[in-house]
Amino acid sequence: MHKHPLAIHGGEKTRRTPMPPRRAFGEAERAMLMEAVDYYASRDEDPPYQGRYERLLCEAFSAYMGGGHTDAVATGTAAVFVALAALELPRGSEVIISPVTDSGPLNCILMQGLVPVVADSAPGSYNMGVEQFLARVTPRTSAVLAVHSAGEPLEIDRLVEAAHARGVKVLEDCSQCPGGSWKGLKVGTAGDIAAFSTMYRKTLTAGASGGLVWSPDEDTYRRALAHADRGKPAWRTDVDLRNPGHALFPALNFNTDELSCAIGLASLARLDDSVARRVAFVRRLSALLEDSEVCAPYPFHEGFSPFYFPIMVDAEKIACTKTEFALAVQAEGIGLGEHYGCLVAEWSFAKPLLSDDFTTVNAFAVRDSSFNLYLNERYGEEEAQDVLRAVRKVEQWYLK
Ligand SMILES: Cc1ncc(COP(=O)(O)O)c(C=O)c1O
Repeated sequence: MHKHPLAIHGGEKTRRTPMPPRRAFGEAERAMLMEAVDYYASRDEDPPYQGRYERLLCEAFSAYMGGGHTDAVATGTAAVFVALAALELPRGSEVIISPVTDSGPLNCILMQGLVPVVADSAPGSYNMGVEQFLARVTPRTSAVLAVHSAGEPLEIDRLVEAAHARGVKVLEDCSQCPGGSWKGLKVGTAGDIAAFSTMYRKTLTAGASGGLVWSPDEDTYRRALAHADRGKPAWRTDVDLRNPGHALFPALNFNTDELSCAIGLASLARLDDSVARRVAFVRRLSALLEDSEVCAPYPFHEGFSPFYFPIMVDAEKIACTKTEFALAVQAEGIGLGEHYGCLVAEWSFAKPLLSDDFTTVNAFAVRDSSFNLYLNERYGEEEAQDVLRAVRKVEQWYLK
């Protein structure tokens, strides 16, 4: 097989045009935003907290989830914070957290006076496994904060069953997997409460920043509502909500705004289409990667809603490190990160605050044997072919 000089060594790039930018803020989002602006202008009003577009977004999201109750908040971190607070866990109790997540969820546990206990992922996965969860449960465990990482749905039916059997509440963080499902069960609906980030990089986006809290239970939802807005009992019509004296407890203000909610409505209307496009790309590239001698696709399950795409590298077969391999593919014009970096057990600020110095060996193993292909709903056949061509070119160079 003829070897072509790699772009990283000064050779010609496989792909000369940039990978397609996402542009999640599309025509539909712009139109909804302008509709909200015009709506308030026509009424000669300023957009308020908890206005028409927040109500519409929450109703549409509850319908999308098949029922239940939704509150829209300012960020995904706020959504996790409010959802966790709504569970009213005993101070000082333990909350088991996934090994792979953003730092916001971990900080929510810490800032509510709870003790984070990191569980490992299932072998070969970025997601907490049920056995790995059970290995970390103690009599002090009050909840599990389970992240559907990378867009891969957790084995949530078994996790909820195992947790509830031990009196442990379940908070699902669905930020990276909106619209996903596990055995036909929509991601977020199996636990006690769910949080979603809708920041600009997420598949469901409220433009720049946002979050959603969803619960099947009205009381849990009401507690979330009050925790999201200074302790106010927003469902009560018999009290003056402008009077802070009617608050149920001290809480911060995590309100979102009408313009973000309008953008979120447009994004939600095309969520299934966005997920389907991402899934089609991942499936196509996974099939193409059968031609690779070194790379294999992350084993996503049915119902996935891909956020990023880990590509596994068999380092035994190449005369370079996984990172050198990934950087060479990147230099060919393919958008990627050398790996997904969000592993709780390695953050130095967090180490002294975790329950113990448990290491998440399975999560590290997946991280260390994969690179992280970026993707969005505008990726198609051309991009899949280019990724394969870049991978094949680099592996021809480095194959032992
Ligand atoms: C799993 C997960 N949870 C929570 C967050 C926090 O969301 P935000 O950035 O909207 O606060 C993110 C990403 O940012 C995330 O990926």
